[in-house]
Amino acid sequence: MSEIRTGLGWDVHRIAAGRPMILGGVTIPCEFGLDGHSDADVLAHAVTDAILGAAALGDIGMHFPDSDPRWKGSDSLVFLRHAHDLAKQRGYRIVNVDATIILESPKLKDYRQAIRERLAATLGLEIERVSVKFKTAEKVGPVGEGRSAESQAIVTLERR
Ligand code: C5P
Ligand code: MG
Repeated sequence: MSEIRTGLGWDVHRIAAGRPMILGGVTIPCEFGLDGHSDADVLAHAVTDAILGAAALGDIGMHFPDSDPRWKGSDSLVFLRHAHDLAKQRGYRIVNVDATIILESPKLKDYRQAIRERLAATLGLEIERVSVKFKTAEKVGPVGEGRSAESQAIVTLERR
């Protein structure tokens, strides 16, 4: 009998001029980007927390405090890989990842394949196990007004 566990992740970053927009390790061409201590990859942060959550290993800030100068401008795929390594060390493998990015603009659907490929490669998964979806916030609230971007993720782990 295998053990199945699910984990939930959520993150938000402010939109800012003069910053890159990096989502799942993919740079999106855009006049604005996401503000943060690291590279502010809101999708990578949500997926990282979902992995940590499924394995009950705390959260991203516990492993990578944003007060630590080592993580300033950091590639967030490093956090994702580390969370995955911790889960693997405990005998877990990822069954699937499903995520949503909520961003008013730009449109992201043309980058879906690139983002899925990057996440899958980072986690050593077949692309079919990685799903990324996009939504606007219908012009309502901070996301809808173009002031922030959010991401939600759910990850299923299996341990035999
Ligand atoms: O938010 P809404 O339901 O209007 O989004 C419709 C579709 O537009 C989504 O299913 C998604 O395919 C696409 N979309 C996108 N990039 C965004 C927001 C939505 O490609 N930033
Ligand atoms: Mg974050």
